[in-house]
Amino acid sequence: MVEAIAEVAALRHKVAEPRKGGARVGFVPTMGALHRGHAELLRVARSQADVLVASIFVNPLQFDRKDDLDRYPRTWEADLAICEEQGVDLVFAPTVQDLYPQEQLTFVDAPVLTQYLCGAFRPGHFRGVATVVLKLFNAVQPDFACFGEKDAQQLAVIRRMVADLNLPVEIVPVPTVREEDGLALSSRNKLLSAEDRLVAPRFAEALRAVIATVQAGEQDVARAKQAAYQLLAATPQMQVEYLELVDADTMTPVETIGDEGLLAAAVWLGGVRLIDNMRWNR
Ligand code: PAJ
Repeated sequence: MVEAIAEVAALRHKVAEPRKGGARVGFVPTMGALHRGHAELLRVARSQADVLVASIFVNPLQFDRKDDLDRYPRTWEADLAICEEQGVDLVFAPTVQDLYPQEQLTFVDAPVLTQYLCGAFRPGHFRGVATVVLKLFNAVQPDFACFGEKDAQQLAVIRRMVADLNLPVEIVPVPTVREEDGLALSSRNKLLSAEDRLVAPRFAEALRAVIATVQAGEQDVARAKQAAYQLLAATPQMQVEYLELVDADTMTPVETIGDEGLLAAAVWLGGVRLIDNMRWNR
C-alpha cells in the first residue's frame, strides 16, 4: 500500500534522505477525486522522477463558493488505488489544520494574470491556488512538478510565480486528457446529470469550431467567437460564462487574432461549471 503522510514535518523528513542521496523528486499536486487526467500527470511525473510525491488536499482557500467546497467529490480509497497503480511513492494528504494551523495572513497574488477568464469570475480563487501551491512546494521541495494544460490560467499563474519568486522548481505541463466524445476530464463531470452529460461534449465541439475558423485565417475576434455561439444556440441549457481568445502567457484578451494564442472558456451546465481551452497556431 502506498504510504500516506499528513504532517508537513513528517513529509519533509521522509523526502530529505533520498534528496540528500541525489534523488530527483517529482510532485503532482491534486485535490483528489482522481481520474485519468490526474493519472496522466502521475504517469508523466513517474517517468522523470526517482521519488514521486502526490498531494491530495481540497484547499478551502481557493473556493469562492461554500457550496462548491461542500460538494467537491471526495473519493479517498479510489484515489489511493490510482496513486498505487501509477507508482506514487508518497501521498501527502494534510488536513486543513495541518496546512493552515493558524489563520493564513500571507498570500501570493498574480493580479495581472488573473484579471480575465476564471480570475474575473472567481474572486480570490487564484490567490488561494498560488498560496497553497507555494505552501505545498515548500513542504515537498520537489525538483519538478506537473500541472495540466486543462487549467491553463492556473498553469500560467504557477509558471509566473515560479519565475517571479525564484522558486527552484521546474514546471512540467501535461496536455489535456479527454473522454472519447471530446469532453475534458474533470472531477466535476461526476456532478453532471445523465442528460447533461449527453450534451456536455458540445462545449469542446464549440471550441473546436472557433479554432477551425481561426486556423482558416479569421482575424476578427467577434466573428471567430460567433462560431461557438452559433453551435451552442442548440443547447440553451449550456450557458457561456466567458469565451475569450487570449495571449497564452499573460492570459489577457487579444484585439486581433495573431499567429498563436489560447481560446479559453467556461460554461454552466445544470449548476455545474465546466472549463476548457484549446490553442491555435497558424
Ligand atoms: P485538481 O483540479 O485536482 O487538478 C490537479 C491537476 O490535474 C491540475 O494540474 C490539473 O490541471 C490537472 N488536470 C485536471 N484535469 C485534467 C485533464 N483532463 N487533463 C490533464 N490534466 C488535468 O488543480 C487543482 O487540483 C488545484 O488547483 C491544485 C493545483 C491542486 C491546488 O489546490
